[in-house]
Amino acid sequence: MTIPLSIKWENKQLILLDQQKLPHEIVYLKVDTIKDVYDAIITLKVRGAPAIGITAAYGLALEAQNYKTHSMKDFLETLKKDATYLGESRPTAVNLVWALKRLLKVVNQVDNVTSAKQLLVEEARKIHKEDEESCRNIGEFALTLLEDKTKVMTICNAGSIATAKYGTALAPFHLGKEHGKKFEVFACETRPVFQGGRLTVWELQQSGVDVTLITDGMAAHTIGAKGIEAIIVGADRIAKNGDTANKIGTLNLAILASVNSIPFYVAAPSSTFDLSIKDGLEIPIEERKAEEITHINGQAIAPVDTKVFNPAFDVTPSKYITAIITEKGIIYPDYVENISTQLVNSIEKGEGQ
Ligand code: MRU
Repeated sequence: MTIPLSIKWENKQLILLDQQKLPHEIVYLKVDTIKDVYDAIITLKVRGAPAIGITAAYGLALEAQNYKTHSMKDFLETLKKDATYLGESRPTAVNLVWALKRLLKVVNQVDNVTSAKQLLVEEARKIHKEDEESCRNIGEFALTLLEDKTKVMTICNAGSIATAKYGTALAPFHLGKEHGKKFEVFACETRPVFQGGRLTVWELQQSGVDVTLITDGMAAHTIGAKGIEAIIVGADRIAKNGDTANKIGTLNLAILASVNSIPFYVAAPSSTFDLSIKDGLEIPIEERKAEEITHINGQAIAPVDTKVFNPAFDVTPSKYITAIITEKGIIYPDYVENISTQLVNSIEKGEGQ
């Protein structure tokens, strides 16, 4: 039983698991250019907020190795332009611009192109390594919250393949397995592109965790019928007041948790917090192409020219969130106050972001 990985850095090469081919084919792609990285992100070959950030960091660092200039001014100008290009690949997951900003910042430490190129790769590797550590910590904290609970529902894939390793919402299940705890996970299939059915089910099966697949519309019934004790999800962007954007359908689960008086947990690293925005209204919501809804595997399931609305994310107001689990600890309401004291203070001390 193994926990699958989606991002590898081997012999100065970026290698990505093609998540579009899962679960039927396990294909790792060598990604060389910034355009390949942009395409991999936009076509969901790599997806999940932390994984998008790590991949973009490697993508920018790789592209910078090919800059021909010896002028630091020209180097920085091109780097900025490329960071803007990559940063526009997907709008909701803030980890993307967070990682790119880290790279743009680190090059200011040096005054020559050779050192800058080296530093960019080192920083990308650091972001990758730190994310694995963060996810492990998130998993351990989540296990303390889920101590007496075994039947847990989730949506989308906030797992190992959406991060460096372990995942956020799925981390307690992987670590629980290591610690000998048996969870029964209920995975919502996650229409329209089935991150739950294709990815979460596959990933948990790979690491030997008990997982049951349901369609998204079965969530309300399943909570009662199967005695779900908690819901845990990942996040793409968390505002200063705790409002959380995550995969479309997350808000439905949060409301169901509230109505059924079961805890609703959000698991995310500090790189997913956007402390520049007051609340969820300021989070940009990606809208994706109509074919994701009108077609399945290239096969039309709706009449030709059907009008479609396809938001990829929704925003869960913080009032529905029982706790936010980060690598630095568990944050409870009042979020406006506690995010600021627990997260902002540790960031100001230089412990992240
Ligand atoms: O569109 P996706 O598959 O990138 O959406 C991913 C999610 O919504 C995840 O829950 C989130 O990014 C957290 S991944 C640890």
